[in-house]
Formats: sequence, C-alpha cells, structure tokens
Amino acid sequence: LLDINKIDSLKRHRVIKMAAALLQQGELVAFPTETVYGLGADAGSGEAVARIFQVKGRPQDNPLIVHIAGKKQLADITVNNLSATAEKLIERFWPGPLTLIMEKSPLIAAETTAGLASVAVRMPSHPVALALIEESGLPLAAPSANRSGAPSPTLAGHVLDDLKGRIPLIVGGGPCSIGVESTVLDVRGNQPLILRPGGISREEIEEVLGYHISSAGAISKDSNKKPASPGMKYRHYSPETPVYLKKLSADTMAAELAKYQGEAVAFLITDETACGLTAVAEELLEDKVFMTMGSRYTPERYASQVFAVLRKLDRLGLTRIIAEEIPERGLGAAVMNRLQKASLKE
Ligand code: TXA
Ligand code: MG
Repeated sequence: LLDINKIDSLKRHRVIKMAAALLQQGELVAFPTETVYGLGADAGSGEAVARIFQVKGRPQDNPLIVHIAGKKQLADITVNNLSATAEKLIERFWPGPLTLIMEKSPLIAAETTAGLASVAVRMPSHPVALALIEESGLPLAAPSANRSGAPSPTLAGHVLDDLKGRIPLIVGGGPCSIGVESTVLDVRGNQPLILRPGGISREEIEEVLGYHISSAGAISKDSNKKPASPGMKYRHYSPETPVYLKKLSADTMAAELAKYQGEAVAFLITDETACGLTAVAEELLEDKVFMTMGSRYTPERYASQVFAVLRKLDRLGLTRIIAEEIPERGLGAAVMNRLQKASLKE
C-alpha cells in the first residue's frame, strides 16, 4: 500500500508511473475514486480482466465498468455516436459518479462485459484515478476493490483487509468522498433507465433531461426473467454480522431496544431519531453500540459512512446490526438500495 497523501508530489508521480506500468503489464492495481476504491486492469486485455474476477471471487456473469479520463477515449469503447441524451448527461455529470451503458466496441475484451454487447463507462473525478488512467493510456476495467459480497471499500485499509497478498499494489488516496458507487444508467433506448441508484441522484438526472425516468426493478422473484443489470441479482455489501433494515423513530426506539435486552446489538440511527430519545430509550441504549448517520433529510453523510461503519461494526462480534431506513430521495435511494441488499428479512 502506497498512500499518495503521505508523500511529496515528486514521489507521487513516481507512484502513478509505477502503477501505470503494472497495468500495462496486465497486472491489477487498486486505486481511489470519489465513490469507492476500484480494482483496475487493462479493459482491453481478457487475461488481465479474468484476474479481477479471480481475485475478487466475482461471479463470471457480472460485467465491469470501464473507466476513462477523457471523452476522446469513448471512441475506443463504444461504436455508435453519442445520443443527444448521453451528450447532455456527460456534459453535466462527467467527471463524476455516473456510469452510462452503451454499445460495446470490439476493442474492449469480452471478459470485461461478461460477454454482453453493451459496455458500462464512466469518467471518475478523483485526481488519482484520472492520473492513473492518463499515465497508463488505457481504459481501466474496475469493479469495487472488495471481495465479492462484502461491503465496498471506502478506505485503502479496507482494500488491504480484503485483498492483501492478492494484488501487487494499492494506491491509497484517503477516504472516498461520496462513499456509494456510481449510478448506472442505460442510455441506449429512447428513455434512460436507472439500473443501479448511486452517486448521482435520479432527481439530478431528471432536472437535466426535463422528464421523469424509471428504475429497473430490484431483485426479480421470477428467475426466468433476466435482470436488466446482471449485478442486481446477487446479495451484496454484507458484513458477516446480520444486518436488519428498519423504520425507526425517537418514539419507537424504547420498544425497539426492549427486544434486544442483553444482546450485543448496534444501531445506525439518524440525527432525528438520536435527538428525540425518551429517558427510557436512553437508558436501554446504554449497553448498545450506536452510530449516528446524520440527518435523514441530507443523506450525504449516511452515504459516505455506511460501508466503513458496517466494516467497523463487523469486528465487534455483535449478534446483529440494525440500520434505520431513510427516505429514498437524492442519495437516500442509493443508501437504501445498498442496505436492502446487505440486510436479512426478519
Ligand atoms: O462507483 C463505481 O461505479 C465503482 C468505482 C470503482 O468506479 N465501481 C463499481 O463497479 O461499483 P462494480 O463492478 O462493483 O459494479 C458495476 C455494476 C454492476 O452492478 C454491474 O452489473 C453493472 O455495473 N454493469 C456493468 N456493465 C454493465 C452492462 N454492460 N450492462 C448492465 N449493467 C452493467
Ligand atoms: Mg461492487
């Protein structure tokens, strides 16, 4: 692990050069983005990309996102001209946490897209990610740099915990500012479709386009129906400790806490719930772990902390983690999507 923030700018450049050389040789390098840490490989090399699946323990049919540093690189990734819709969204949201699904160019390895005719592309805004893509001159296929199924990594240390000894280099760049992955949007049809809620909210996209857009349904019960995005069918983001997602409020906390007397339980609660607790609830909370996740009406803090908090709590040997539901507005939709997938039904 080499942390970019802990060295001077000359050495920084050397680290980027070394990382780029590894990528050019078909090796894997983990790097920070504004959403979560990514595990990068040359998107044009089937062999390099196959190693990503191996290292993560990722199901073979779950395609990867290709990361670029400039719009020019799109010519190597997608075959068609950009639609007016795609142009508008790129203009407004790149670089940033918006991934677009387009028609795949043959220059992208079949392994990268798990054999699909489409390809997912995004331009991250993190300076280290951009420098690495530019220095290597490659489009980088990069999933989140965690073991498949675990909470996504938002600190270099999380990558080390999951992938130590399995990859040659982790470029550290501090905590990821957004903390949940990019929004995946299919822009091939007449109407864009959200395949995964993420760092750019539906509301922001609708504001730019001037009309309402829909989301592909969550995990389909009908197993014959193909999910719109292959990644949607897997359980995900889960610590070992069972997670339960619940509607909580200051008024109901005392009753909720009474159920777990003597149990080692952690609560992720909003400021609204934490601030209005009754004396009875406060007393019952004394032997519990609780983490405040910010206001339920400004979900940015919940988003930036959720994965790190799940990982931290997982080390405490608790019997369960209870996370408070928040409104699915703005980043709240991405937070709820991740918690729904991480959690068990009671
Ligand atoms: O923020 C992010 O997007 C992070 C950072 C590293 O950039 N990356 C990330 O990658 O979250 P990953 O592999 O964990 O998630 C990629 C998602 C999966 O749900 C996958 O199924 C979907 O994108 N996806 C990729 N290519 C696709 C395609 N051609 N069609 C539909 N869905 C696709
Ligand atoms: Mg992932």
